[in-house]
Amino acid sequence: MSGVLSNKIINKLKYTSQNTGQQAWLIGGYVRDLLLKRDCKDIDVVVLGSGIDFAKQFAENLNDKVLVTYFKNFGTAQVKYRDFEIEFVGARKESYQRDSRKPIVEDGTLEDDQKRRDFTINALSISLNAKDAETLYDPFNGLDDLKNKIIRTPLDPDKTFSDDPLRMMRAIRFATQLGFEIEEKTLKSIADNKQRLEIISGERIIAELNKIILSNEPSIGFRYLFDTGLLNIFFPEMVALQGVEWIGGKGHKDNFYHTLEVLDNVAKHSDNLWLRWAAILHDIAKPATKKFFEGEGWTFHGHEDKGAKMVRPLFRRLRLPLNDKMKYVEKLVFLHLRPIALTKETVTDSAVRRLMVEAGDAIDDLLILCQSDITSKNEAKKKKYLANLEIVKQKIADVGEKDRLRNWQPPITGKDIIQNFKITDPKQIGTLKNKIREAILEGGIADDRNQAFEYMIKEGKAMGLKTVSSLETTQNK
Ligand code: CTP
Repeated sequence: MSGVLSNKIINKLKYTSQNTGQQAWLIGGYVRDLLLKRDCKDIDVVVLGSGIDFAKQFAENLNDKVLVTYFKNFGTAQVKYRDFEIEFVGARKESYQRDSRKPIVEDGTLEDDQKRRDFTINALSISLNAKDAETLYDPFNGLDDLKNKIIRTPLDPDKTFSDDPLRMMRAIRFATQLGFEIEEKTLKSIADNKQRLEIISGERIIAELNKIILSNEPSIGFRYLFDTGLLNIFFPEMVALQGVEWIGGKGHKDNFYHTLEVLDNVAKHSDNLWLRWAAILHDIAKPATKKFFEGEGWTFHGHEDKGAKMVRPLFRRLRLPLNDKMKYVEKLVFLHLRPIALTKETVTDSAVRRLMVEAGDAIDDLLILCQSDITSKNEAKKKKYLANLEIVKQKIADVGEKDRLRNWQPPITGKDIIQNFKITDPKQIGTLKNKIREAILEGGIADDRNQAFEYMIKEGKAMGLKTVSSLETTQNK
């Protein structure tokens, strides 16, 4: 591992271990991300003995501005230094009771501590000690799993997940973020232990879910959540989207897999978590509005309206914020059919303008959602929808530009002209104002107050007008 740990923090950690004689190792996400060459600002350090004593000494050795917090009850400490957070914990052996996440903790060795970790790739540790500095300790072949892109628990997965059921969500989150596969036994154990997620707080579940949603390809995580049965525990409304019903040889599309496609499409165009949530929820009311009509086939009339109404109660239950982010998601779910519906009639300026007013600042995001929603497997149909959407986009841009110009005012007003030339003749004022306006519209000068001001002075002089400052100079002579 030589050469990779060269920054000041690591050097001070090594120095502290040497100085105090207290053994210490880097462990967890920092080691994993270091090996994956991913940026990581959270450094976990495990020490033999007291994490608090080591942290105190380390903070002193840094000899710089730091913020140190001690958690005496847990025997841990955190040092904030620049944009890094360094956590210190004494090596421990943990065992858990079935109905609680609170562990019974005893002091332990490095290996005890590695065993209580969630995944082999998170149990890797690097020594900070003088005798074997930078040696990698990898009792569970985490390095191989990193290379082969595998998520696997160090111990029997039933034990690891039973100790802390949140780890089932974490397994899926890491698989999604890193593009790894969950090893078969580990995956089966998640399915077997899914009910244990019920002891985990909604806030912690949603924090993991949001990390899945913010990954490059969120559908990976949702497929795992669906297949293991976890999704049904905290988000049955999404599970209800799955499946195809047939009547008289006519089926509708599977709205769960369609939603995942829309979500992945949105993820290619935007990092906005709430736009991604709008993709997840855009068809959420389809099961509740589904009807079959002879001759017409399957319909989901009003699913956008009913879906928008489902957003608030869902956000409340899922522990998502009930603020303007929620209102934005409601709005996008409600409007998600409108841009395409516009293309089915003659697209009038007023229809476009009405949509722009309703969508407000969310108009560009609505167009991303709408475009992402075109997932037809029929290439000709897809092409037609996309071309129609382009027409709507162009219309929106045109109407926007027309409205902007209609409401546009030059940066120099009549009042500016009166004040600078001390004139009152409306004809002269109007002529000069018009010249400035034309110069900007023709592109001779920019739509900018300074440039327009200079232009006003120049043109005013050319018209034989005197500026206030030159009038004052003449009077003073
Ligand atoms: N850990 C664990 N079980 C958990 C949470 C954490 O075993 N439920 C261990 C893992 O070894 C993990 C380390 O604690 O690597 C640090 O946890 P955390 O900071 O939550 O995760 P990271 O692995 O650092 O990853 P990320 O920052 O992406 O959450």
